[in-house]
Amino acid sequence: MRPFVVEPVSRLKGEISLLGDKSISHRSIILSSLSKGLTVIKNFPLNKDCLFTLNAFNKLGIKIIRKNNPKDLSATLEIYGSGFFGLKEQKKDIFVGDSGTTLRLLLGVLAGQDFKTRLVSGKSLSQRPMSRVTNPLRMMGSKIQARSLIRNTETEEYPPLTIKGGDISALTYKMPVASAQVKSAILLAALYADGTTKVTEDFKTRDHTERMLKLFKANISIKKNTVTLKGKKELVSPGTITVPGDISSAAFFMVLAALTENSNIKLRNLTLNPTRAGILNVLKKMGADVRINQLGLNMRGLEPVGDIIVRESSLKAVKIKKREVPFLIDELPILMVAASLAKGRSVFEGVGELRVKETDRIRSMSKNLTKMGAKVAVSKTKDGENIIIEGVKQLKGAKVRSFGDHRTALSMVVAGAVAAGKTRIDDVSCINKSFPDFFDLFNRLTN
Ligand code: S3P
Repeated sequence: MRPFVVEPVSRLKGEISLLGDKSISHRSIILSSLSKGLTVIKNFPLNKDCLFTLNAFNKLGIKIIRKNNPKDLSATLEIYGSGFFGLKEQKKDIFVGDSGTTLRLLLGVLAGQDFKTRLVSGKSLSQRPMSRVTNPLRMMGSKIQARSLIRNTETEEYPPLTIKGGDISALTYKMPVASAQVKSAILLAALYADGTTKVTEDFKTRDHTERMLKLFKANISIKKNTVTLKGKKELVSPGTITVPGDISSAAFFMVLAALTENSNIKLRNLTLNPTRAGILNVLKKMGADVRINQLGLNMRGLEPVGDIIVRESSLKAVKIKKREVPFLIDELPILMVAASLAKGRSVFEGVGELRVKETDRIRSMSKNLTKMGAKVAVSKTKDGENIIIEGVKQLKGAKVRSFGDHRTALSMVVAGAVAAGKTRIDDVSCINKSFPDFFDLFNRLTN
């Protein structure tokens, strides 16, 4: 494959809308499938990950009609849900690609099904840890077989996974890792349990599952960091779900606009859910000219939404605390680019989870940014790993690698666009995992 070449951009200008949020879209398919009757999902993004969830529920017998929007890479879905027990056994393996959210949330749903399913994943997801989700689901009564390996003296489980569910009991669980995917898998399994499940987090993670369960009239309540769900109550479809724009995709343009002279862009109709919008607080703390136009709540309170305006800014260093990390976990790679060009020393605390994303993002981003002249260091403390970045005046173009990871690739396009000279990225096809229209929007804003 020929490398992708990025050249410096002169300014960003204009207004764009982002495709529907990836996390919310996965959940909208899942809950629509588990409720009875028709749910229409609008602004569903045609990215690879979300299509794996769509395909999985299709294979499990759910009728889904997809009408692609001729104007962009979104679709309107009609999902004919058939209730908690409407899924059909699938004798063949279900392939979930490299979509961690598809795999982990699907395990939660399958924990409630009285049949066996084998889930197979792509190369990168097959290297990602699954014990965090298989452990609690086994405690709830499901039978799971996985590929197990000893790594650093600990046994860890990896895909492929075979799960036989049914007869699920409620669970009281304190999360050992901050993971919305794991929390969501437990809550989905808990829908099938007789009693009340309680999940407590040390550090709150994104709450899209909880919000959508409320929308579908599940018996759920939330007090501080504990979610309580009483099972066996049928879900009721809200009829239509309009997915707000993806703030994790928008993040790349926010940082690019802040770092580029004379820029002024508007990103329309994004989710402003506080458990997702941590990047806005961080950019503001860095001195970025970021304005938020709250537009209210979409879909009977499903998610707060708004427009975000970003202008050229002069950035200063920032300290990100461990408890803030889950609210911007997917934005840390692009924030590493921002910190590399901010005045002073930035510290991102407790970011160890970055090691188990699509690639080890601490390694991929440190390697690439260092090649471009950034000053990045990593330190270990009792609270986990910290990234320390000393801002420099200018990055310089270099040969860098995506490591097959969409967010590393996207961050490198942004770094290349603000660096002096040309940057060559070995492979950017992985960007389709989350952001298939990225280059269209990039060209629109930079031309
Ligand atoms: C996600 C949760 C996060 C995030 C991922 C999407 C979700 O993963 O990194 O991109 O939709 O629940 P973890 O649960 O592993 O932190």
